[in-house]
Amino acid sequence: MSSIQHQQEDRSNAIRARADLAEPKALRTFTPSQAVFARSAGAYHWTADDRKLADFSSGVLVANLGHNPTAWWRRVLGYLELADLATDAPYINASPLTAYNAITDLEVTAAERLLSNLRQESGGERLEQVMWAASGSEAIQKALWVALARDPQRDMILATRHGFHGKKGLAGAVTGTEQDKERDSRVRFLTLPTDECSDLESRKQPVDLAPYEQELARMADEHGSRLCCLITEPYLGGGGSYHPHPEYLQLLQRFCRERDLVFILDEVQSNFGRTGTMYAFTHYGVEPDIVCLGKGLGNGVPVSAAVGSQLLFSGLDYGAASDTWSANPLSSAAVLATLDEFEGGDVLANAQALSTVLEKGLVELKETGLITHVRGEGTVWGIECGEVGEHSPANVAIACVEACYLGNSDGQAIHLLGPLAGKVLRVSPPLTMCPQEAHDYLNVMKSILLDLHAQLRSH
Ligand SMILES: Cc1ncc(COP(=O)(O)O)c(C=O)c1O
Repeated sequence: MSSIQHQQEDRSNAIRARADLAEPKALRTFTPSQAVFARSAGAYHWTADDRKLADFSSGVLVANLGHNPTAWWRRVLGYLELADLATDAPYINASPLTAYNAITDLEVTAAERLLSNLRQESGGERLEQVMWAASGSEAIQKALWVALARDPQRDMILATRHGFHGKKGLAGAVTGTEQDKERDSRVRFLTLPTDECSDLESRKQPVDLAPYEQELARMADEHGSRLCCLITEPYLGGGGSYHPHPEYLQLLQRFCRERDLVFILDEVQSNFGRTGTMYAFTHYGVEPDIVCLGKGLGNGVPVSAAVGSQLLFSGLDYGAASDTWSANPLSSAAVLATLDEFEGGDVLANAQALSTVLEKGLVELKETGLITHVRGEGTVWGIECGEVGEHSPANVAIACVEACYLGNSDGQAIHLLGPLAGKVLRVSPPLTMCPQEAHDYLNVMKSILLDLHAQLRSH
């Protein structure tokens, strides 16, 4: 029997039970809903029991263009020369699905188009080459390999505390805090100002950078010429949805430039429109030496990249960053189709209208008595749960995810990710969600949370 079952969900329950037998639980992060998706379109999922869920997660900030957008799929198949899949003719013009030890025009075109988009958005010149990878953590790993390859004497990495860069290899080593686990002795953590941006109001106040400047100076005194690079995110995602003041990122960049450290910005989550612009770094007023991209880059097809200068990347020799899936044609086609949709359509304009609706609706959720803080920008928001009676914020957050999944008496329900940092609910719908529908579903969420508050108070 599956550890998670819901009433009147016979089909979903059966699939959950089969998953329990066939797959280890470590493969999934815990959510009390454990939704079973059967089909998805636009900003909605339908469960195996045919319940409709508004998607407030975009996967995990992946399906920025929504699920299965028709025009995007046509473009993907077109790039692969598979557009007339319906015919029985052999696909003699189709692209290969793997081109290891070889090159495809598709891969090079995707790299060129991505670079030109980055240049156009940033106006900068640092980002000259694309080092493809398949997952976000692999892009981070490759960026750190590049930085470490510059000089064997410079082997120390600075990372902002409570960041999330992935679980594998060096990406895991720069994730979290010094207390988490056995640490890689090369990594030192810096304090990212979170109290100063704990909600929308505090982020509007000027930030005092002096303590952070002092911390950086101490790091420089202690480790000096061993410091190699610094890695951070535009905002702490997994760490609880904290969006620092741009001046803080600018301080980190200045520190790197003054000491010739490689400044690596992890935009795996923020890229492709999440914060309102294609890349967050353009409105944070910085220009990283290496930017890591992922998630929304392929709108659901696994692909990621570290983008940096030719000089930096030339430090790695043949094969040092190669693997089975990097630059595979399916990923390249997905990147091209995603760029087409952003460059040719009104995705960012819709995201802007959606952002206004999200901010207003989420702030109103404070009236439910369950939400204490609202943080975010663009279409990436975090709402922090408070204590209710004897229920801890973490329990309240879990109860919210479950209640939204079960929905209201009219069958309106919402898919949310499991809480961030224990007590923060992530709200990050596809950028293409209709603002009116978002407004309606935020009202649904409010009424569900009001009911939940009453229930929690009485137990
Ligand atoms: C900012 C950030 N970096 C890196 C990663 C790791 O990406 P992946 O899970 O594709 O390895 C994530 C994943 O959530 C992320 O949010």
